Amino acid sequence: MSASPSGSRTASHPAARTGVWLIGARGSVATTVVAGCAAVTAGLHPATGMVTETPDFADAVLPALADLVFGGHDTVDCPLPKRAEALAAGGVLPPGLPAAVHAELAAADREIRPGGPLPGDHRDDAALVAAFAADLRDFVRRNGLDRAVVVNVASTEPAAADGALPPSTLYALAALDAGCPYVNFTPSAGLHHPVAARRAERSGLPYAGRDGKTGQTLLRSVLGPMFAQRALAVRAWSGTNLLGGGDGAALADPQAAAAKNAGKERVLTDTLGTAVEGTVHIDDVPALGDWKTAWDHIAFDGFLGARMILQTTWQGCDSALAAPLVLDLARLTARAHEQGRSGPLSALGFYFKDPVGEGPAGLTEQYTELRRFARTLGTGETGPEPEGDTEGGGSAGGGGGGGALGSGDGVRGGLLGSGEGGGAGRGRDGAAGEER
Ligand SMILES: NC(=O)c1ccc[n+]([C@@H]2O[C@H](COP(=O)([O-])OP(=O)(O)OC[C@H]3O[C@@H](n4cnc5c(N)ncnc54)[C@H](O)[C@@H]3O)[C@@H](O)[C@H]2O)c1
Repeated sequence: MSASPSGSRTASHPAARTGVWLIGARGSVATTVVAGCAAVTAGLHPATGMVTETPDFADAVLPALADLVFGGHDTVDCPLPKRAEALAAGGVLPPGLPAAVHAELAAADREIRPGGPLPGDHRDDAALVAAFAADLRDFVRRNGLDRAVVVNVASTEPAAADGALPPSTLYALAALDAGCPYVNFTPSAGLHHPVAARRAERSGLPYAGRDGKTGQTLLRSVLGPMFAQRALAVRAWSGTNLLGGGDGAALADPQAAAAKNAGKERVLTDTLGTAVEGTVHIDDVPALGDWKTAWDHIAFDGFLGARMILQTTWQGCDSALAAPLVLDLARLTARAHEQGRSGPLSALGFYFKDPVGEGPAGLTEQYTELRRFARTLGTGETGPEPEGDTEGGGSAGGGGGGGALGSGDGVRGGLLGSGEGGGAGRGRDGAAGEER
């Protein structure tokens, strides 16, 4: 067991140096991840919001925060220290933190490579995947890393037209080619694209996603089971989200919002056992910056048809909610990879709106499953492996599998089951959730 200056109680791996490769590395979430990890490691702030720093995870033998090395791809070139200054000016990061962790921000900045496709980019899909995978292998090799976990925190992208590969899927394929476990924190397709889903299942690598559950959906996954367990009849559940920042701007595009809104009933349908009336709206309010206000209005019936209303208002700082979860996911996925696990990490459903694999929908049950998983991470026993071929995997830096675009074409599996098109998964039709 190691103790960080902040009083970390988590048993950490003695030697493993773990890369965290962030797609969208210059965004609000990514910058908060890098600055936050440095702040907690230095003992400047407690690890508030990091589930893996609580006693339940003390024996999971996760990589130490101090041993995480950050890098990533982005399509903009604003230096991370400058991005952190902007976040501090907006009140997202504490004043003075960008200066206090300047060295760590600058180190991560040196590991960020141009993403794509860039304006005027003439590379085809295969060339982009090859370039991204080469960047990953280079990151692992130069830093002497045991492994690197790829985490997608890039802007939510519009649904791809007619089977075209969206950038998130190109990055996900590159992760597989480089032998890296993959986490999709966004509602973008990533490994859910049919071309990638089969490859993921055959990769021998663990993966998790998608779309972090940080606010309104988190609340829904607690309140939904409450109504069901108390046998109260929910008549309608409606929601509105107001947010600004890069995410708010991205979601102002109806196509991107559609990706976010796909399967918007999922948490409610899964926890209430039936679809209920009501929709969710997401409005871009630039003045709010990284702050989100999410309002839910729940109409329900009690005994003898008595009509009642519950309203909730969630006012959250999105990046502060997301960053500790990204750190949790990177550590848990890295440890799973170290243990040789492969396939969908369904026990991480606690973190997602649209989890891969089979698992419960209520937060309490999801947390129980996560704790069980953490115990097996500590003991080294692995859970049941997903069925199917496990050829083609490889350790990070080892060169990975074959051509990114040649194999797999629409076979429905654990990934597709929870998103595009039914099949295995959780046996439900929903895709990404609608709000955080
Ligand atoms: N903050 C939360 O609570 C939360 C919860 C769930 C999901 N998310 C998702 O996390 C993502 C990041 O959110 P954010 O607030 O940091 O957004 P942001 O706009 O601040 O950052 C996104 C970054 O992605 C980069 N990017 C865009 N296209 C890219 C590409 N093709 N390749 C590489 N980089 C690219 C942008 O340049 C930007 O730096 C969003 O998709 C959001 O929906 C956030």
